[in-house]
Order: sequence, then C-alpha cells, then structure tokens
Amino acid sequence: MDYAVDVENLSYSYSEGTIALQSVSFRLVRGGSLALLGPNGAGKSTLLLHFNGLISGTGSVRILGHEVAKENLLWIRRNVGMVFQDPDDQLIMPSLWEDVAFGPRNLGQSDEEVEKNVSWALQVVGLAGLEERSPQSLSFGQKKRAALATALSMRPKILVLDEPTSNLDPRSRRDVVALLNDLHKSGVTIILSTHDVNLVPLLADEVLLLNREVIAMGKTREIMRERELLQEQGLEMPLFADLFEELRDEGRFDGQTPFIKSEAKAALDEISFTRK
Ligand SMILES: Nc1ncnc2c1ncn2[C@@H]1O[C@H](COP(=O)(O)OP(=O)(O)OP(=O)(O)O)[C@@H](O)[C@H]1O
Ligand SMILES: [Mg+2]
Repeated sequence: MDYAVDVENLSYSYSEGTIALQSVSFRLVRGGSLALLGPNGAGKSTLLLHFNGLISGTGSVRILGHEVAKENLLWIRRNVGMVFQDPDDQLIMPSLWEDVAFGPRNLGQSDEEVEKNVSWALQVVGLAGLEERSPQSLSFGQKKRAALATALSMRPKILVLDEPTSNLDPRSRRDVVALLNDLHKSGVTIILSTHDVNLVPLLADEVLLLNREVIAMGKTREIMRERELLQEQGLEMPLFADLFEELRDEGRFDGQTPFIKSEAKAALDEISFTRK
C-alpha cells in the first residue's frame, strides 16, 4: 500500500523530561486528508514537526516510503509543506514576497517559475498586493495566511498545517477551507491539527484523536459522533451532529447523523415533532 505518512511506534520527549508522544502508530494513504484532534498539550504540534524532520524521536516516520532521516531531508522538505501554529516562526524575511519566494528559490526554480508560484500562492490566500510589506507589519490573521502561502508556493505533495484556521475571520476561514478542499481534490495529501470541531467534517475524511498516545483513529463521520470519546478528551461534537444525536437519544430522530447544513436540513424532514 502506498502511504503518504506511515508512523510506527513513535515516542518523543522534550529535553526537560516531558513525554509528548508515546508509541504513536498510524498510517494515512496518499491523497488522504486527516485532522488531528486533541486537547492543549496533547502533542499535536510535536507530532506534526516530525513530518519534515524538524524534530525526531524514537520509532519510525516514513513519508511516501522515505524514512524521515538526515540523508532524506532534502527530498522530504521538497515534498512536505509545513505551516507552523505560530506564523512568527515561519516569517523571517524583510518582505512578504521574499518569504513566499524562499522555498521555490531553495528548490532551484527559475526566476520565472518563482514569480509564478509566489503570485499564485499570494493570490489564493488573499494577500496579493501586499508583496512589499514587512511580514511583521501584517495582522495576525494575515500572518497566518502568509505562512500558508510560504508552504503553498513550493507546491508540496503533502501539506501539513498546524491550526490553519485559528484567528481567521469567517470569510478567511471559509476561503482557507475551500482552498484546502481544492488542493485535496487535486491530489495533495492534507494533514492538519485543529480545535474547530465544526470544521473537521468539511476538512478531513479521517480523524486521529491524540492525547500523548493515539486514542482513536477512523472516519470523520464515525469518530465525530462519539460523544463520550470526544468529551473524555475535552472536545465536543460538531453542532449539527450534537443536536441530532440528542434528538436520537430522545427517540425523535432515526436517520444519518448530519454534519453540515445541507445534511441537517435533510435530517429535519425526518424529525417527528412532538406538538404540545
Ligand atoms: N519546546 C518545548 N520544550 C519543552 N516542552 C514542550 C515544548 N513544546 C511542547 N512541549 C510540551 O510537550 C507537550 C505537547 O505539546 P504540543 O505543543 O505538541 O501540544 P499541542 O497538542 O500542539 O497543544 P496545543 O493545542 O496547545 O497547540 C506539552 O506538555 C508541552 O508543554
Ligand atoms: Mg499545538
């Protein structure tokens, strides 16, 4: 089987002794989309940083069949685009254009290709026109989108995003969701962490619940209706699913759990209203 990511028995401790990951194993198929969920401090960022070799623990991490190890790092970083949780960790150049051009230039692209990829990336994140601005002068939400552009401009096969929608206004959030869906449809493998449970059904086919170790992994539509499992991890169900599962418990609904508005509207037709 052709896996985009294959993690086996991965453990990681920070130098002062915090065990952040313990015997984590999972696989994601090429072209898949995975949401990583877990409470603050669960090890989500720590896990994501392993995917392009920024940190390495014990156990094995393979990307498209290549072990994440020193001798493969160049190949790995060409293929895995990483968007950090904190955009200030990603934006280091004097201008936005240079930050977004940094990756393509490192790949040895021609000036023409660099220009094309930078314009495209800034366009799709909605920052075209701000090329000459200092990244540090951008608002936090703009920085989040700029950090995304620095990964996109390299046209990676695998895109790893640590809380890509946090701090975004509703329109930017919707745009990022649409963009990630487009990339996914074009064959890019997407792995992201998020606390926004309502976005998970829109963003990912699979969910990995992490809390230092793997708590559960499965189809989004199965995991995101497990009320107790989610609550045990300090999470909650998406709103529509929460409502209709409650109605199911009251014996008033017997259909498929809805996760998005159109499904909820269809589910409403199946409700037996008890009129007083
Ligand atoms: N640089 C570091 N040095 C020491 N400990 C760290 C470091 N970074 C994270 N940790 C610890 O490792 C554990 C996992 O942290 P991590 O940042 O991976 O969690 P997270 O799931 O991404 O949390 P959040 O939802 O808050 O982003 C936590 O206990 C955290 O305190
Ligand atoms: Mg984190």
